[in-house]
Amino acid sequence: MHTENYYYYEPAAGHGLAHDPFKAIISPRPIGWISSVSRAGQRNLAPYSFFNCFSDRPPIIGFSSSGWKDSVANITETGEFVWNLATRPLAAAMNNSSASLPPDQDEFQFAGLTPRAGRRVNVDCVVESPVNFECKLTQCIQLKNAEGATIDNWLVLGEVIAVHINRDLINAEGIYQTAAAQPILRAGGPSAYYQISDDLRFDLLRPEGGQPRQ
Ligand SMILES: Cc1cc2nc3c(=O)[nH]c(=O)nc-3n(C[C@H](O)[C@H](O)[C@H](O)COP(=O)(O)O)c2cc1C
Repeated sequence: MHTENYYYYEPAAGHGLAHDPFKAIISPRPIGWISSVSRAGQRNLAPYSFFNCFSDRPPIIGFSSSGWKDSVANITETGEFVWNLATRPLAAAMNNSSASLPPDQDEFQFAGLTPRAGRRVNVDCVVESPVNFECKLTQCIQLKNAEGATIDNWLVLGEVIAVHINRDLINAEGIYQTAAAQPILRAGGPSAYYQISDDLRFDLLRPEGGQPRQ
């Protein structure tokens, strides 16, 4: 048996370590850098690393908010948001956009970023970011714990209805260059991030062969 080699804990009773390893294990995570606008027209921008894609046809992305934050309030009010790719050159601005400003203050301005109107949604894209997805809210789900009690965490899902990609990231064969975009990924602890590199890429084909849908 190998169990003695495993550190074991049950989260409800605490992890017993210097730092909670949960977010360092589910790591590195892509960042949902989400722009939204309040019903009154106030722009908002914030990063969420509890973020991923959940459907490809149609494309659906989502992020989870610990608490009812301005992004969730805005998106449920207007039904729209924009996702912006957070890249290495934009890391400081992305981080600054997480400042808890009062709802009447604009994180674009605070982080030194330029807004550009969306084409299909009434929400601004971050001009400096090389990829923007314009999204329509599909679901906002209040999460539950194992006992079925609602918790103060909100999963916001939206269909990507328009995509903007800086042409420099699409090669002559029409293939998007993931590493060239220099995406940044959130890891554990108060400050850790990772970058990716084509040197570390490896390829695997599915056992069934062919082109898998997913
Ligand atoms: C890299 C990064 C990732 C973050 N991920 C999350 C997250 O997944 N969920 C969350 O609730 N807050 C997250 N935060 C904190 C929010 O960005 C912060 O609370 C922000 O002020 C929320 O803005 P809003 O109230 O305008 O929506 C993250 C912050 C940073 C810098």
